[in-house]
Amino acid sequence: MKILVTGGTGFTGKALVKRLLEQGHQVVALDYQEGLKTEELRAWGAEVVIGSVTDKDVVRRCVQGVEVVHHLAAAFRELDVPNSYYREVNVEGTRNVLEAAGAAGVRRFIYCSTCGVHGNVDNPPGDENAPINAADYYQQTKYDAEPVVLEHHRKGLTSVILRPAAIYGPGDPERFYMIFKRVAGGTFPMFGSGKTLYHPLYIDHLVDAFLLAQEEGKGDGEAYLIADEEYVEIEDLVRRTAKALGVQVRIPHYPLWPLIIAGHVCEKVCKPFHIKPPIFPRRVDWYRQNRAFDISKARRDLGYAPTISLDEGLKRTAAWYRAEGYL
Ligand SMILES: NC(=O)c1ccc[n+]([C@@H]2O[C@H](COP(=O)([O-])OP(=O)(O)OC[C@H]3O[C@@H](n4cnc5c(N)ncnc54)[C@H](OP(=O)(O)O)[C@@H]3O)[C@@H](O)[C@H]2O)c1
Repeated sequence: MKILVTGGTGFTGKALVKRLLEQGHQVVALDYQEGLKTEELRAWGAEVVIGSVTDKDVVRRCVQGVEVVHHLAAAFRELDVPNSYYREVNVEGTRNVLEAAGAAGVRRFIYCSTCGVHGNVDNPPGDENAPINAADYYQQTKYDAEPVVLEHHRKGLTSVILRPAAIYGPGDPERFYMIFKRVAGGTFPMFGSGKTLYHPLYIDHLVDAFLLAQEEGKGDGEAYLIADEEYVEIEDLVRRTAKALGVQVRIPHYPLWPLIIAGHVCEKVCKPFHIKPPIFPRRVDWYRQNRAFDISKARRDLGYAPTISLDEGLKRTAAWYRAEGYL
């Protein structure tokens, strides 16, 4: 099949593009910036188009002859942008891709949302019916695109929504890298009790879920939480990361509230100067937002079955960080 992956050079996009090419599909990857990763994707055999999901002409060009769209592109890690940028990319960009896909006769549309639409889960583990409780602008805009996807589904573009948990694995340059780096340094400051629940998702499992969702008749018009078998307390995650790295880690505890205040203050102070704040509310939420999910619906409808344990996933990730010189 000819398949479009938006955000194809991102952490998840790259893993998906690789698997699709290995399966013999023809892949178009749409991404925002030219760089080393775009060269790598071209070397694998993907067609890479540089442009924004908000650009109607570019998107129209990308969907020609495409059967399936995996829509992953998102404003996600951008800090030095106004909130309206998140809406423009995550909601209007999604609408743009949907409209172009519908007009070009695309068969299936898979939208990559986030488990973050549920915010803090009050009664963990939460399932897809847990209240929508987005905690920040990113999560809110990821959620606001979901009804747009369903509107197009009703108009005839068969769509599936995936809500991934915290993605990690070889290739992750950001979030889990920060955890690994701090653990490798021997001390991991824990703000709060360390008992907050966190649900990792090994990258290969998420790629499995995308492939299952692209199959005819699976999950049409539905939303699915996608996560690993196991969720953990964050202090346990830190200890198991240390085990995967084969190091000892000290975990001194500190109160959380000064960090919450510092996160807000840093964000406010840094914004006018266009400086990336060292801490900001979304990062602080890691210490306090319970995220633990029930993945029964994806198992039942999609046949989703995560096979790699957390310890094995962490071990593979540690090996990758070391091999690539991150640690
Ligand atoms: N990481 C997680 O734990 C997590 C959890 C739940 C859901 N998600 C969702 O999963 C998807 C992939 O996440 P990821 O962690 O792989 O993020 P990522 O590495 O930041 O990938 C996002 C990609 O989208 C591209 N992009 C951003 N704005 C664009 C635009 N206007 N037009 C075209 N491309 C654009 C980025 O390109 P540039 O790098 O060139 O800007 C990047 O390659 C996202 O939809 C995210 O919301 C992630």
